Amino acid sequence: MGIDAEISRLIANGDQASNGMVSGADGTLLQILIESSGAKRVLEIGTGVGLSSLYLCKGLEKTGGTLVTIEGIGSKLDAARKSFEAAGCAKSVVALQGDALEILAKLEGPLRGPYDLVFSDAAKTNNLHYFDAVMPLLRVGGLLAAHDTLCAENLKMRDYFDMLKAHPSLRTVFLGTESIVRAGDPRSSAGLALSHKLDDKLDNVKRWSWHGRTVVDAKFNEVPARHIPYKVRSVYEDDYGSAAGLVEIAAGTPKEDVIGLCRQALRERTQPFFSIHVYDHTDAFDSRDDFEFPRERYFKHLVAHAYRHPTLDRDEIYYHPEKLVLRLPKTADIDEVSSHNLFGAAPGQPKSELGLYPLLAHNWVP
Ligand SMILES: C[S@@+](CC[C@H](N)C(=O)[O-])C[C@H]1O[C@@H](n2cnc3c(N)ncnc32)[C@H](O)[C@@H]1O
Repeated sequence: MGIDAEISRLIANGDQASNGMVSGADGTLLQILIESSGAKRVLEIGTGVGLSSLYLCKGLEKTGGTLVTIEGIGSKLDAARKSFEAAGCAKSVVALQGDALEILAKLEGPLRGPYDLVFSDAAKTNNLHYFDAVMPLLRVGGLLAAHDTLCAENLKMRDYFDMLKAHPSLRTVFLGTESIVRAGDPRSSAGLALSHKLDDKLDNVKRWSWHGRTVVDAKFNEVPARHIPYKVRSVYEDDYGSAAGLVEIAAGTPKEDVIGLCRQALRERTQPFFSIHVYDHTDAFDSRDDFEFPRERYFKHLVAHAYRHPTLDRDEIYYHPEKLVLRLPKTADIDEVSSHNLFGAAPGQPKSELGLYPLLAHNWVP
């Protein structure tokens, strides 16, 4: 059986959308990227049961190249391996099972690249961490494609997009075959963030996402927390129950108040993952996915964000004007969680028209 027949078989199984597998459009886009750039060495993070890998293999069949693909769940990788055999492309694939972050750190010899194209499609909240690991493995001129940028998964990649906007060695565009994704329709594109690596100046920085930042291990109660007004611009719950919020504050709000707001958000949310971004101007908020928007302006108005990572043992507050990162113990471990919610009024408290809620300082000032 050839690759096309095996792709058709997987699609006919009908679980393409529910398993987060690439649509035909996105798969074909990957194939085109490989064929048109002549990519011979491709790395995939998040094999699933192998549908995207088969599209990558279709491209590699033309260029004579090989695929290294990583998947955490053994049963999925077993299914993918069977598909590669059935499609006749198994010889061109190195399929590795395990946690991608651990595997990427341990890759050796030819498996360390340099790669011409990296396709990132595992846990979206880890994208920034995958990025730190794969950037040194990608050749200058190579392509980095992150999947699911135009669907609900987008919300888990806010930090990744912020990084793409700021990174001086990347040129990035969002690609998708549809501007509006038809929910559950496997023909719809879920979108790619396609980044072109322009130079290797920052390859030796161990964690680019913290490059140039001052990282401080803080105790939760040492972080100032004060009463400030804010406006909730948007709150999301995605398919996985992950939360993201976008909050607007007055320009010029002092640092301790911005950090205090982030701290309150961390204290009040109990989800295993969420992120809250604090902006002081609607321009930046409205242009958060627009790579044409001057990044200087974007970062001028993205004041801070609070981030609870699902797999790391800490919360983080990034205060952008000072490039300050506060690493906090996971606030889920802190016994006192206040009775009201950053995105809802405290019990008995009326919601204002603007969605402004006065914060109850006595609940969270140490
Ligand atoms: C969206 S699915 C991949 C779909 C596949 N790329 C396709 O289009 O056919 C994401 C996959 O990433 C895997 N994954 C998530 N986190 C991972 C991790 N930390 N390490 C390895 N695999 C991971 C999941 O088990 C899941 O199979």
